[in-house]
Amino acid sequence: MAKKTLGRTLPMMGLPVVVVGAKVQGKVNFCTVAWVTMIDDEPPKMAVVMGKDRRTKDGILENKTFSINLPGAELAAAVDHCGLTSGHRTDKSGVFDVFFGKTLTAPMARECPVNIELTLDEIVEREGTDIVIGEIEEVYVDEDRMTGGLPDIEKLQLLMYLSAGALYFTKGRAVAEAFKVGRDFQP
Ligand SMILES: Cc1cc2nc3c(=O)[nH]c(=O)nc-3n(C[C@H](O)[C@H](O)[C@H](O)COP(=O)(O)O)c2cc1C
Repeated sequence: MAKKTLGRTLPMMGLPVVVVGAKVQGKVNFCTVAWVTMIDDEPPKMAVVMGKDRRTKDGILENKTFSINLPGAELAAAVDHCGLTSGHRTDKSGVFDVFFGKTLTAPMARECPVNIELTLDEIVEREGTDIVIGEIEEVYVDEDRMTGGLPDIEKLQLLMYLSAGALYFTKGRAVAEAFKVGRDFQP
């Protein structure tokens, strides 16, 4: 297959898209983020890449807590809204039914099937964007999205984002078992 070159640009990748929650000056705010990753498992840590001017980041700095909420496919419009509007100008506190967990200050979106509650570990300031690193304090999962005590991909239907294509999609289909399917692979 011939390869087409796209130049020095970010490639198309299917990324999970999440909603980051924080309380800013007493008001709940949510921001859509596709640049998100796990970075360690003991202690468990995750990171989100955020633009310098994100109102949500102001709240993370203020309370040293935040949440990462994993939306289902049915929440695409609400997620997009949180990415199209800024808490600097728009009140996003009513977008989701909010609940709080053990940190008391990290707002979480009840409609999202998975909610991750974090305390701020570090903000790595870069020239263009900042990397916000958090330590996971608790993970909340809707019971009806699990089977036999494990997350069920068919039931989760998590919202994904195709970068460069600017498209939301969902990948609710199991393809193979990780750490197993490659065991007998012969190149
Ligand atoms: C699909 C999508 C993905 C986004 N991904 C990111 C991201 O990874 N990091 C980021 O800082 N902003 C991202 N944004 C933009 C922010 O969500 C947007 O600037 C938002 O208005 C910030 O809200 P805030 O100022 O209330 O925090 C994304 C927006 C959309 C629609």
